[in-house]
Amino acid sequence: MASANSARYGKRGSAMRVLQVDPHRPDPSAIEEAAQVLERGGLVAFPTETVYGLGARAFDARAVLRVFAVKGRPQHHPLILHVTTENQARALASGWPDAASRLARAFWPGPLTVVVQRGDRVPAAVAGGGSSVAVRAPRHAVAHALIAALGEPVAAPSANRFRGLSPTIAAHVLKQLHEGVELLLDGGPCDAGIESTVVDVRGVRPRVLRPGAVSLSMLREVVGELEAPTVLLASGQPQPSPGLDARHYAPRARLLLAEGAGAARRAADALSAHGATVGLVVLETDPHAQDVRARILERALSRDPERYARQLFATLHDLDDRGVEAIVVERVPSDEAWSAIADRLTRAAAPMS
Ligand code: TXA
Ligand code: MG
Repeated sequence: MASANSARYGKRGSAMRVLQVDPHRPDPSAIEEAAQVLERGGLVAFPTETVYGLGARAFDARAVLRVFAVKGRPQHHPLILHVTTENQARALASGWPDAASRLARAFWPGPLTVVVQRGDRVPAAVAGGGSSVAVRAPRHAVAHALIAALGEPVAAPSANRFRGLSPTIAAHVLKQLHEGVELLLDGGPCDAGIESTVVDVRGVRPRVLRPGAVSLSMLREVVGELEAPTVLLASGQPQPSPGLDARHYAPRARLLLAEGAGAARRAADALSAHGATVGLVVLETDPHAQDVRARILERALSRDPERYARQLFATLHDLDDRGVEAIVVERVPSDEAWSAIADRLTRAAAPMS
């Protein structure tokens, strides 16, 4: 995005500074500068191994409230606290069940978030006013260095507008957030491209609140049987995790799901027949099978779920940027390895409530 090492974006005098950082060995002076922004109550967008986060000092309730304002997110949607070690996480909780220890040891640093009982030090604003708190230790060197430099937990949701598509490159952040973010650390594309798996460990059995980059089978290997997966609840019903609202992770364009590449192509064809430009996302098959109209922008994504996850949000962002009116997506396989992707697609396709 920025050709120089540092550039300013945004309008009306509250420009966001962009600093390019090496994703593996970030320049300590850039990290120090970002930590100072957090220290004085400012907001910093930064890369993690899942998606870009919008960070605030977790113990600063005013800074945390600004995160909600910048995202346009309702204040009852709790934020994840990012730490560097299990000990730092424990200090945020009033109880640390055995399952939390086992998950932390198996997956941290990494894309796994545990929900535990909230400790006294954590401002209620972080937890959306609730009695629990979500914590994770990211693996990304930039995220890790930033939290270490601050010496305190960083509260960070994904760096997108409420219900929008999560950002997997810095340009996606710049597209959605303008005012109120002081600094963006641009560390290139995120590795996983899909958010962390969120697991509530307060019950008898761990319960997955959001499928994500750590698969269900990986979880079972560490903690045994899981509580039945949370079903998609209609909007308006009480949610075990607020991020489970039916419509979420959605592009601007209307998103439709179709069974099989053939049906997806026919749906895209029918939509474009009325003059609309339409996006079509199918699973990779024969590269020569692209017999589609000029108004259909076809993207073939990998049949490997991890690669597919890395490509998905970037593909939807790109199609949105090209101004398509609708995006038809071929349904992904129904087996468990695809559950996080199927979850995001279902929510992206849900009607506005
Ligand atoms: O990969 C990720 O998790 C990214 C990066 C930046 O770490 N963060 C992220 O944050 O996706 P956010 O705020 O966009 O999504 C957090 C999810 C939501 O579904 C939220 O409802 C859930 O975690 N969550 C957070 N705190 C919770 C809590 N105390 N109880 C239940 N669910 C919680
Ligand atoms: Mg999010």
